[in-house]
Amino acid sequence: MFTRILVGYDGSEGSRAALAAALRLATQAHGVLTTVTVQHHLPRYGATIGEVDEEREFEAAEARRLANEVQAAAGEHGIDAQTTIRAGHPAHEIVHAAKSIDADLVVLGHSGHSGLWGTFLGSTTERVSRHAPCSVLIVR
Ligand SMILES: Nc1ncnc2c1ncn2[C@@H]1O[C@H](COP(=O)(O)OP(=O)(O)OP(=O)(O)O)[C@@H](O)[C@H]1O
Ligand SMILES: [Mg+2]
Repeated sequence: MFTRILVGYDGSEGSRAALAAALRLATQAHGVLTTVTVQHHLPRYGATIGEVDEEREFEAAEARRLANEVQAAAGEHGIDAQTTIRAGHPAHEIVHAAKSIDADLVVLGHSGHSGLWGTFLGSTTERVSRHAPCSVLIVR
């Protein structure tokens, strides 16, 4: 039923649970899986060019680390996952990514980096569930 699956992956415990569920679904449905990691790229006020470059380099390294995590998890399931990175507002970019790959399911964790696991629904998940062009699975 769901064969074009997009996972919002920020490296949090919630997003790892979302990735694990999405990998099981993709395996059962012989689907294709894409992950999107959204980064902020917000230079701090008053930052020098050197500091901005340093932050960009830090984010690029973090994105590579997360992509490697996804590839390792996907490899265990024998799935060939696409990893993508976007800059901007997480909910906005996840919805755009879903549209651009014509996803039929978006899979997200119940909470991410700032939330307490299992307490409140995160704002990214809440916003994506309101605006997504397709079904959204919130993984507990
Ligand atoms: N920057 C991001 N890139 C990709 N996916 C993300 C990003 N931020 C959140 N997500 C997805 O959304 C899920 C829930 O995170 P969310 O941001 O809603 O919760 P939170 O960080 O606990 O709370 P909040 O951001 O509202 O303070 C994550 O498990 C992940 O699947
Ligand atoms: Mg968050």
